[in-house]
Order: sequence, then structure tokens, then C-alpha cells
Amino acid sequence: MNLREHIRDIPNYPKEGIVFFDITPLLSSPKAFRFAVDQLAEKFGSRGATKIAAAEARGFIFAAPLAYTMGLPFVPMRKPGKLPYRTMSVTYDLEYGTDTLCMHVDAIERDDKVLIIDDLLATGGTVNGMIKIVEQAGASVAGLGFVIELGFLPGGQILREAGFDHTCLLN
Ligand code: PRP
Ligand code: ADE
Repeated sequence: MNLREHIRDIPNYPKEGIVFFDITPLLSSPKAFRFAVDQLAEKFGSRGATKIAAAEARGFIFAAPLAYTMGLPFVPMRKPGKLPYRTMSVTYDLEYGTDTLCMHVDAIERDDKVLIIDDLLATGGTVNGMIKIVEQAGASVAGLGFVIELGFLPGGQILREAGFDHTCLLN
């Protein structure tokens, strides 16, 4: 299965000069979608993760079926104003702007080993935000998994320099 064939490149979206990697063709292929989730399950099955966390919206698309497949709790990290209970938050830089992510204060406990999943690694801003929230909660990162890595952006290098291994299905 060549997942790259299921990603559509959209030039100049959402801004001039950005090439947007559109995962909707992958999602519209049940075989490709299942393959992507199964590959993540295979790569992270033995890491001892106790929870899977992801940021809305596209991160949820892969992390929720992965949590279901792996039989692990799913922790949603959401944009401000979306979570109903008490939250902790972090603000981070993106390829095209800044954003804030929130998490319920009781979503992750100190002894949790959290597998962080996202559809795409670009500047690394979002994943760094997620790592910060996990660490703020006193827990540790069990792994970082992505479907796509944009190798021409510094996210992967930033993670390596910070001492975090990451796994991508496509780079
Ligand atoms: C996208 C993508 C990743 C993030 C990667 O999310 O789903 O979460 O950008 O970029 P980074 O490595 O530069 O942080 P986006 O913030 O566009 O939100 P969405 O999932 O709601 O589309
Ligand atoms: N998130 C951040 N950069 C992106 C890109 N170039 N394509 C799709 N999603 C992204």
C-alpha cells in the first residue's frame, strides 16, 4: 500500500506559498485508512503506552481508531472553549499562525505513558504543545506517531534535538 498516492497536494492553501497535504483522499479509501491505523498500531504496540492523546481536529481522525484498536483510553486536546470541565492549556507556533490547545486537568495522571498521535508533522509546534501539556500533567511521552512528516520543515529535527524519537508512515 502506497499511502502517498492517497495524499493530495494543494498549492497555496491556506496561504500563498504553503503546499497543503490533504488527507481526505486517504480517508475516503477504507483500505488506505485501515492500513494507516494498523501500521500505527503495529509500530506502537510494544511501547507500553497507557493513553493516546491527540489534538483536534485532524489528529482525532487517526488517534481515535488507534485507541480503539489498541484498547487504550483516548485523550482529546482541544481548541479553547471546547472542553466543558477544568482545563490546562498551552500556546504554540504553527506554520501559518499560532494556536492554543487545552486538556481536561484530570485527563492524564502522573504515571501515564502517553502516545501522541497526529496526522502531520510540519514545524513541530503542535506536537511540542502536546508534549508540554503531557509533561505539565507530570506524565511521560511513550511515543510520537504521525502519518505524514514534511521533511522540508524543521519539526522532525526539533524533536530529535529535544531527545524525542518519532515515527512517521510517510516522509
Ligand atoms: C495541522 C495538523 C497538525 C499540525 C501540524 O493542524 O493536523 O496538528 O497542523 O503542524 P505543525 O507541526 O506546524 O504544528 P491544524 O492546526 O491545521 O488544525 P486542524 O487539525 O484543525 O486542521
Ligand atoms: N499542517 C501544517 N502544515 C500543513 C501542511 N502543509 N499541510 C497540511 N497540514 C498542515
